[in-house]
Order: sequence, then structure tokens, then C-alpha cells
Amino acid sequence: MRNQQQASMKRKRDIIIKGFSKLLKEEKLKLVAEYFENPGEVISLLKSFWHTDESQQKLFDEFSENTITNFYIPYGISPNVIINGRNYLVPMVIEESSVVAAASAAAKFWSERGGFHAEIVDVKKIGQVHFSWSGKPETLSQLMPQLKEYLIQSAKPITANMEKRGGGVLDIELVNMTDKLENYFQLLVTFDTRDSMGANFINSVLEEFGQSLRHFLSEQIQLSIEERQVEIIMAILSNYTPECVVKTWVECSIDELENVDEKLSGIAFARKFEKAVKIAQIDTYRATTHNKGIYNGIDAVAIATGNDFRAIEAAGHTYASRNGHYESLSRVEIDQNTFRFILEVPLALGTVGGLTSLHPLARQSLELLGNPTANELMMIAAVMGLANNFSAVKSLTTIGIQAGHMKMHLFNILNHFKASEAEKSAAVDHFKDQKVSFSSVGKYIASLRS
Ligand code: MEV
Repeated sequence: MRNQQQASMKRKRDIIIKGFSKLLKEEKLKLVAEYFENPGEVISLLKSFWHTDESQQKLFDEFSENTITNFYIPYGISPNVIINGRNYLVPMVIEESSVVAAASAAAKFWSERGGFHAEIVDVKKIGQVHFSWSGKPETLSQLMPQLKEYLIQSAKPITANMEKRGGGVLDIELVNMTDKLENYFQLLVTFDTRDSMGANFINSVLEEFGQSLRHFLSEQIQLSIEERQVEIIMAILSNYTPECVVKTWVECSIDELENVDEKLSGIAFARKFEKAVKIAQIDTYRATTHNKGIYNGIDAVAIATGNDFRAIEAAGHTYASRNGHYESLSRVEIDQNTFRFILEVPLALGTVGGLTSLHPLARQSLELLGNPTANELMMIAAVMGLANNFSAVKSLTTIGIQAGHMKMHLFNILNHFKASEAEKSAAVDHFKDQKVSFSSVGKYIASLRS
């Protein structure tokens, strides 16, 4: 019977499903559940994660396509985050145990040493119209001042509102790429999107520019018939935002690092920490993990506030390669008696538009942060990146990462063994001074049960 069921499921997996998106939600759920041995239970499980309020659930269903349920991720708070003298409670959405704990520990540590400092370096965003044109580059360059004006005017219906808010198109540059690809040019457009991340705004303007470029060239009667034609290959924002950058840092006197580790003096800790960060500047394997630790903090804030964490990670990793090889995004400076730990990172975040006001928890997160501007949110997210980076490197260079990490992971292991509340509390007590590992917890639970 079981073999028959498995064979039928295998056959099912080979079938191409047609029209899935057109099915009703219940029908989609049923269809998916049939891929399991216990469809009834699967449907109940998936439905148990539906929002109890139907209108809220509908909101989530409409964020994406083919939604059949919701996927929960913990929403935590890192308190005591002092940035430029202001105290924040920072919401963090992350599934990895110990990230919120690491951020909170760093926040507490630095709250006693002057807090975090942050400043915006720049807020420009970039978009491109990629096109093929067979004329001479100089001809296009000569037309540029006129073309620029034409493009700006053509996009006024889209840009007017953004201009009222003080943003809009900052510049349009012609880039000749014909040495890399035959007839290939770009319009490189710089934007200020104020408090919005601006992806939709930028893409709409760029698509308009593409059409207007075609129209403009078609009307240049002094050009040959061929030169009056252009192939618009694509129009899209760039997620690489090297001019939308925030800088954050912490600093204290070396004397204030005296008790960080029982075996290291303040200066020995500072030098060891510095070496660990230098390793991430010269070694790609280490740099990747080092920067991953930074994005533990940044992504958690991005998700909690309804921002696109894939976009900011993509920008960050490219930025980390700007000097010709992939390296750490953070650095250490030790001068005389001062220890300074600095992070500079591109962060295109928004506090209006997108999910920021639609997702009820994103909206709440922003409220908890005091309804920040995009610039302020950039500083908060970068600070959480630096906080996580500091905690990780501090642990790595002192007690090692596993002690803290496994302590936080203890509940996951206990849940794996389906521990009762009484077993959990006994285990927490037992593992206070014992090494946590999957097998040591397994053995301990077995001993409790025998
Ligand atoms: C784990 O998510 C992040 C760390 O590996 C970062 C690091 O090694 O710097 C702890």
C-alpha cells in the first residue's frame, strides 16, 4: 500500500502543473497536500499558520503570488541601542539563534562607552537604460544636452511628486561601452528618492526615458535613417549603490577594554581584534563570513521594517569588492590610546512606500523606532550590522563562538527532542556550566527520561 502511494506520488511529481495560479487558494492547498503521504494533516498544518483575521490574511496573500500559508520568523528586540546620543529599541526579524543576543550584548557594551556614532555619506541611487545604437559616439555626445532636457521633461508626470518632496532625477550621463560590446551605450541616471527605497519610481522613470530616447532619435532629421533608430535593451535600477552609503563607528579608550576578557589586557584585546579584522581584509574566505555576520544585523532590521534585504546584501557584497578583491566591510583603527571600529556600507532603505506601511508589523517597527527618515533607518540598520560584527569578532578572539552560539541554540536542540517544559528548565540549569552539543543534550534528555 505504502509503495503504491509512493509510486503514485512520484508519478505526480513528474506531471507539469498547468494553471496553478488560477486555482482558488483552497484548491492550491489541496493540490500541494496531495504531494504528501498525509494530505489531511498537511492541510491542517498549513492552515494553522493562517491569520485568524481574514482581512489580515488577505493582505498577506496579496503581497505575493500562489500564497497558501504564512512562514513565521521570530521578531525580537534589541534594547539599549544608543545612536548619536538617542536610545532605540531595535526590532529584528531573524531565525538564527544568538543574533539578537549578540546585537543586544554589543549594544549594552557600547552604551557604557559612548554609544554608536553614525553619519550619512551620501544618498544617491543609480539606474540605467541599456541600448544599442549604430552611430558614432561623438554624435550622441553632442546631442546629450538637448536629449537630457527632453528626457527630464518627458518624465515630469512621473517625477513631479518626488520633486515636491525634494527628490527626483539628479543627473543623466551617457556612457559609451562600445569598446566592450558593439554599439552598446548606457544612460546612467542618478536619483534622490528621499524616504522611499525608490525601486518602482526609478524603474518607471527609466522605462519612460527608454521610450523618450527612441522618440527623440527618431525625430533627429539631420541623422541618417539608421541613426534615427535605437534598440532599447532594458531599463532598470542598479542595486549597486556605492553612493548611497552610511558610516557607523564605535570608539573608546584602550583602558575601557581592560576587562573585556579575563586573559587579555585592553591593548592585547584591541590588537587581537584588529588582527582578526585585518584577516577579513586580506582573505576572501574569512571576509565572506565576517560580512555575513554584519548582514545578520542589517538584514534583521531590513526585514522587520519591510525593506528588501536581497537588494542591500547584493550592494554590500559588490561594495566589498570595490578595491579589486572581496574584503571586510568593517575596519579597525588604533591610534594612541583610542580603539575605533568602523563600518561603511551601502544601504538603500526606505521608510515610505513598498511594504513599509502595508505590512502591519513593518509599520509597527517603524513606529517603535520613532518613525525614522530613510537616512535615520540607514544609520540604525548599519549600527546593528556593526553591533553583530563586534560581538562575533569579540567572541571569536576570546572565548570562541560556539559557547554563546550553542547556549542560544539549546532550545532548538531541546525542541528537536520534544522536551517538555520541565525538561527544558532542568536542561537550562544543567547546561549553565556544561558544553552544549547535539549529542550532549540528547544524552542529558535520555538520562532525565530513564
Ligand atoms: C554566524 O551567523 C556569523 C558569524 O560566523 C560571523 C563571523 O564569523 O564573524 C559568527
